[in-house]
Amino acid sequence: MDVRVKLPNGVSMPQLGLGLSHRGGCGYNHDAVVYALKHCGVRLLDTAERYGNMAKLPAAIQESGVLPDEIFITTKLFPTNYTRVHTAFEDDRRQLNKDTVDLFLLHTPECGIGIGNKELRLQAWRELEMLYDNGQCRAIGVSNFMEKHLTQLLEECSIKPMANQCEFHPFQTQISLRKFCADEGIVFQGYSPLAKGAVLHNAIVKEMANRYNKTEAQVAVRWSLQHGYITIPKSTNPVRVKENYDVFDFELSNDDLEKLAKLHDGRHVSWDPTNVL
Ligand code: A2P
Repeated sequence: MDVRVKLPNGVSMPQLGLGLSHRGGCGYNHDAVVYALKHCGVRLLDTAERYGNMAKLPAAIQESGVLPDEIFITTKLFPTNYTRVHTAFEDDRRQLNKDTVDLFLLHTPECGIGIGNKELRLQAWRELEMLYDNGQCRAIGVSNFMEKHLTQLLEECSIKPMANQCEFHPFQTQISLRKFCADEGIVFQGYSPLAKGAVLHNAIVKEMANRYNKTEAQVAVRWSLQHGYITIPKSTNPVRVKENYDVFDFELSNDDLEKLAKLHDGRHVSWDPTNVL
C-alpha cells in the first residue's frame, strides 16, 4: 500500500519505509531489502553515511526489479562531514547511483564528542540549502534535533528544515517536540517504532495484539502510522519485514492509541540528544 506524506515543499514520500540502520549498521541484509521492495511494496529506504550500506542499495534495487525512480531514499550527513558537505554529498550520490537525493538530513545535532556546536550545524545547513537550491536534493531536513537545536537553526536559516527524524515509539512519545515541529511546519518523522524490540515485550501491547489478531510489532507500527508520521521499522528478516508492512488492514481505536501513549517513560533506545548544546 503506497500511503504517502507530503513534505512542506510538496514532495510526497512514502509513510512506511524500511530502516537500514541495524546493530550499528553491521546487520545489512541484502535479501531482506530485495524482499521488501519486490514483495512488500516498500518504496522508502532510509539509510545514512553512518550505516555503511549506501553502496549496497543499487544492487538490491536492481535485483528487486523495481524502477530506481520509484524508490524514495533518505540519507544522512554524519557530523564528521559537516565541514565537507559537498565532497560527502558527491560520495553519497556516487554510492547510491543517483543524481538527486530524495531527502538529505543532518544526522544529529551533536558535532563533537559530548559537545554541541551550533555554528557548525548552521554552516552545514547552509550547504544543504545550497544543494537544495541547486536541485541536487528534492528535500532537506535534520534528524535527532530537539527544540533548542531547531530554534537555533530557525533563527538563522534561509530554508526551514522540511523534516525532523527522531526516535518515536510508545515509550518515547516526544509530545512537545512534535508540537513544536507541527507549529513550525516541519514534518516529524519517527524511527525505531518498535523501540528496538522493547515494545514487543510489553503486556499492554501483547493484550492489544491478541485483541486485534495482529502481532505486537504490527500494533507498534500502526500506532506510529495513525499519528500520521513517517516511520521506518528495521528488520534483517524478510518474514518480519513483511509483517511490519502488513499493517493497513486494521485500525487501533482512539482508546488504544491513548493507552499506548501512556507507556511513555522517556527512555531513549537510540541517541539521547537532550544534553547536546
Ligand atoms: P531483526 O532484524 O532480527 O528482525 P526498531 O525498528 O524499533 O529499531 O526495531 C528493530 C529491531 O526489532 C531489530 O532488532 C529487529 O530484529 C527487530 N524486529 C523488527 N521487526 C520485528 C518483528 N516484526 N518482530 C520481532 N522483532 C522485530
